[in-house]
Amino acid sequence: MDSQSVTEMSERYLMRTYRRAPIAFASGQGARLVDLEGKTYLDFVAGIAVTVLGHNHPAVTAAIRGQAARLLHVSNLYQIPQQAELAWWLVDHTGLARAFFCNSGAEANEAAIKLARKWGRTRGDGRFQIIVAEHSFHGRTLGSLAATAQPAYQRGFEPLPAGFVAVPFNDLGALQDAVTPDVCAVMLEPVQGEGGIHVASAEYLRGVRRVCTDRDLLLIVDEVQTGIGRTGRLFAYEHFGVLPDILTLAKGLGGGVPIGAMLAGGDAAEVFVPGDHGSTFGGNPLACAAALAVLTTIESDGLVQRAATVGAYLLERLRALAARHSVIVNVRGLGLMVAAELSIEAAPVVDACRARGLLVNAVKPNTLRLVPPLIITPADVDEAVEILDAALAAVTQPTEATVIRD
Ligand SMILES: Cc1ncc(COP(=O)(O)O)c(C=O)c1O
Repeated sequence: MDSQSVTEMSERYLMRTYRRAPIAFASGQGARLVDLEGKTYLDFVAGIAVTVLGHNHPAVTAAIRGQAARLLHVSNLYQIPQQAELAWWLVDHTGLARAFFCNSGAEANEAAIKLARKWGRTRGDGRFQIIVAEHSFHGRTLGSLAATAQPAYQRGFEPLPAGFVAVPFNDLGALQDAVTPDVCAVMLEPVQGEGGIHVASAEYLRGVRRVCTDRDLLLIVDEVQTGIGRTGRLFAYEHFGVLPDILTLAKGLGGGVPIGAMLAGGDAAEVFVPGDHGSTFGGNPLACAAALAVLTTIESDGLVQRAATVGAYLLERLRALAARHSVIVNVRGLGLMVAAELSIEAAPVVDACRARGLLVNAVKPNTLRLVPPLIITPADVDEAVEILDAALAAVTQPTEATVIRD
């Protein structure tokens, strides 16, 4: 098959849930992908912040191969050594107490919402409301969608589950004012990802932690996108000197194998009892073996530090680019979670980058997102910035010489 026939088949048989580019990939190696036509791309999308070790990493491939040859799946009716070990690793690296495994970010957040509600009830006063931030993104299932305070995602799916109160992000006063006797938790992303890469201020997150402690609320930190080294710390909350009561993870955790996790500390970790929650596939041997390989490799190869230094270099190079392209109006981010906001539509720039062999995506109609694998080098950053430079030139000053056709 070629990319065009895949595109035609997809358009004929798949639900129209995604706006897909007309290319299909055959293989990947490190930070590069190769399409069915043999063209190579530098991958600054990484499956939307998923393939933290790049493509076809030997440690992950070996873990998957080895586990697949022994045992893929058994059920949470039985003990699962890889799941127990993964829970230990995450508990050891967070200071939280227990983990629950599922298959995606939305499911991790559903688990967090259910846990917070049950915890609220066990406080004896029936508290169930969760304060969330405007422009948040927590997933597409009904509960996580209700927590996602962006009307564009919610429209058409009402009525949504009740019990979510949205306040402006980075506004501690608004959050404090929203705390009523019905509130049991606050749920936040330390860097709003789908909202456009907006970093929480340290005063804000520390203030939220203080409010939660003082008012006996759980702080749920959604690190589905920011976790697993992405921001230059293993978990983004570490930048702010706060510890959540509940932490949700997915995306990078399995390096491309679907797995989500919800961790909790303190008395919240003791709330669930058998029957309260579950997932057939959650934490199966294959997914946990892959996640363990991802985490131990990130640690042994110093990739968290690398995300911090290469991420700072990426920001610096993009800021220099902004000085030459007035259409770049803002560059922001943390570690390797970076956005370039434009004064023009981002889609033509995404297309022009792809035509020149660079994958980036538009997180908002006017905002490019760059979330490459943590293994990228400064030379990869130089190459990406050069392609972006050429793409911006082609879009803003198109001439015969600069236009490249697919
Ligand atoms: C912060 C955050 N939470 C939750 C989700 C939902 O994750 P999933 O698509 O795996 O359900 C996402 C996905 O982009 C996310 O960025």
